[in-house]
Amino acid sequence: MSHQPHIVAQLTGPQREGLVQQMFSSIAQRYDLNNTILSFGLHYRWKRMACRMAAETHPASMIDIGAGTCDLPLMIASHYPSIQRVMAVDLNASMLGIGAAKIREGKRGDQIHPCRGNAESLGFQNETFDVAMAGFCIRNVGHLDVALREIHRILKPGGRFICLEFSRPVSPVLRSLYDFYSLRILPWVGTWVAGDQTEVYRYLPASIREFPDQETLADRMRKARFSTVDYHNLSGGIVAIHRGVK
Ligand SMILES: C[S@@+](CC[C@H](N)C(=O)[O-])C[C@H]1O[C@@H](n2cnc3c(N)ncnc32)[C@H](O)[C@@H]1O
Repeated sequence: MSHQPHIVAQLTGPQREGLVQQMFSSIAQRYDLNNTILSFGLHYRWKRMACRMAAETHPASMIDIGAGTCDLPLMIASHYPSIQRVMAVDLNASMLGIGAAKIREGKRGDQIHPCRGNAESLGFQNETFDVAMAGFCIRNVGHLDVALREIHRILKPGGRFICLEFSRPVSPVLRSLYDFYSLRILPWVGTWVAGDQTEVYRYLPASIREFPDQETLADRMRKARFSTVDYHNLSGGIVAIHRGVK
């Protein structure tokens, strides 16, 4: 790839979108394995927590935006069978293809519906869903504010957006350790496991550093007209779950 990962992390719009999509196509086959290795299995705990928050108001319909290999829809379907319909939307055919195979294997095809789509232009009518989730997706979109407004648009009044995303570790000691790990070790291991040549595992820490911190993301959600926005730090703020109500 001709672009430096830290430059890609600073781009916006279609240029960012295209380069990010090349990266996800490159690693789709090894994405799940790498998540487990690189997070020491913690990503399952983070995702379980996000699902619990998404399900707490007993929604009937849900959309997972940037569903990728569909971990979140599958967790929702197996732990919360009363949720009748989960749309699993992603821009990337390779990531979604892995997700669709997992849905078939888990026999969840009547509950989870994978489909191609862009977070910035979701193609659903206004006020369609009770809950929207996004797991590690919105850091990657071309225009964050456009995506937030679009998510707000497709939620029913009173519907909630649950956003699981990397954030800023709260303690300076943890931040230093995390910087060392994510800048020095993670790119090397991730690239080796995935056999990747797009530098996605260098883009990952660069994109996390470019992404708004907890308070700033909460403000951006409020500007997109979400009310009662709050967030919960997980693993000392390495990850945060933001919650906003329409
Ligand atoms: C880091 S993966 C997360 C996948 C999954 N949610 C998870 O938690 O494992 C990010 C996903 O967001 C998708 N994505 C990035 N930009 C997108 C956009 N504008 N619209 C829809 N999906 C997008 C990517 O294709 C990728 O599958």
